[in-house]
Amino acid sequence: MSRLIVVSNRVSAPKDPAAGSAGGLAMALSAALRKYDGLWFGWSGETVEHFTGELNIEDRAGVTVATVDLEPQDVDEYYNGYANKTLWPLFHHRVDLTAYERSYGEGYERTNRRFAEVLRPLLQPDDVIWVHDYHMIPMARDLRRLGVKNRIGFFLHTPWPARQLLVTLPHHRRLVESMFHFDLLGFQTREWMELFQRYVEVEAKGVVGEGGRVDAFGRSVQVGVFPIGIDVESFLAARDSLLGQKTYDRIAASAAFRSMIVGVDRLDYSKGLEQRLLGYEQFLEDNPSMRGGVFLLQVTPISRDDVDTYQDIRGRLDALAGRINGAYADMDWQPIRYLNRTFRRDQLAGIYRAARVGLVTPLRDGMNLVAKEYVAAQNPDDPGVLILSRFAGAAEQMGEALLVNPFSREELSDAIRTALTMPLQERRRKWKALMQVVRDTDVSHWRDQFVETMISSSH
Ligand code: G6P
Repeated sequence: MSRLIVVSNRVSAPKDPAAGSAGGLAMALSAALRKYDGLWFGWSGETVEHFTGELNIEDRAGVTVATVDLEPQDVDEYYNGYANKTLWPLFHHRVDLTAYERSYGEGYERTNRRFAEVLRPLLQPDDVIWVHDYHMIPMARDLRRLGVKNRIGFFLHTPWPARQLLVTLPHHRRLVESMFHFDLLGFQTREWMELFQRYVEVEAKGVVGEGGRVDAFGRSVQVGVFPIGIDVESFLAARDSLLGQKTYDRIAASAAFRSMIVGVDRLDYSKGLEQRLLGYEQFLEDNPSMRGGVFLLQVTPISRDDVDTYQDIRGRLDALAGRINGAYADMDWQPIRYLNRTFRRDQLAGIYRAARVGLVTPLRDGMNLVAKEYVAAQNPDDPGVLILSRFAGAAEQMGEALLVNPFSREELSDAIRTALTMPLQERRRKWKALMQVVRDTDVSHWRDQFVETMISSSH
């Protein structure tokens, strides 16, 4: 069997998978690498004064990890710059927050070249290479320039933007053209895939053929939809672990028969956190009799704190949570528990299980695995209700959730009320349908579909 080489900016194979506070990508990829022999390559997260390309190779819970340190200038221009100040906001339709600095694009190209040069000697002829996310879009082109002939696939964890917005990016054609050096391009949803195809048709006069083949720039690439999922069994085991149960009990004790609504998101403007708090405030305003009987636990670890737009949103959320608590709290009740920290996976599973409502309301999101984890963690006899943004990739699969427009505080308020008052029978029916989706498209399904399609797609 071929080896699988996973390439991503952040290599976060948890040292102890049960403990991992790691996000979806990390868990999914560790699971992929435990099945296929191979290694995971990417940035170490560390800097070194001058780039040497020296590899750090270690074993993390059965996964071989090879990382490389970057120069401070690479981190500024490639990671904080082009990846997080240019592509991330643009791909999440925040053209107002997108920075179009030439030096970021140059740093991105340089750093991708560096990654390709360091990876090249590690490759064997039969290896299958799987590149992840917006940090590494030009990777296949750079590897091909070094003579790499292996199969290379790309999976985009974020949304793909509408053509009308993508063309605001200088050199957008160069970026998209580089994608045609992959053998397979995977998107989370049909919607993102069709936006990509539309760009190619209009801007590159390309042709979208039968079975997802796209021809443009004198090349041809296979394109498909591969919705990412969670590792259901390991998540259930985390929920039922000692710490998972203890966390559940601890919340139940502190909730004192109040209904808990839960939100868990990296502190990111794409997650719709301000709109969510305003929607919750509207709910408190609209439903005076329900105040005091409910609270929102919002878990929001700080993310990408070197980027100014992230510092801004952090400040605004601090102020908003403080204002709502100040306005509505009573001596024995606080409407929002706002926490800037991470929890272990088993704790999170216990928290989700204790929550009557899961509030997942991003303004735009590639998939959103919190939605799937929330569903998986529920007690089948007395499940909670998922409120899900129609703009999360997950909405394409999870139509039985209460789908909302997260920009509307009235809609959020109404959905929270509906969720809190939903009869048991309806909760059970919805949960069953959602859980079926979560099980049918779990992480191994995603991994196997992608890898098998990559292996069978014509070169
Ligand atoms: C999103 C991206 C991932 C990224 C993660 C955490 O899920 O799709 O590629 O790793 O956010 O962001 P960070 O910048 O901390 O790696």
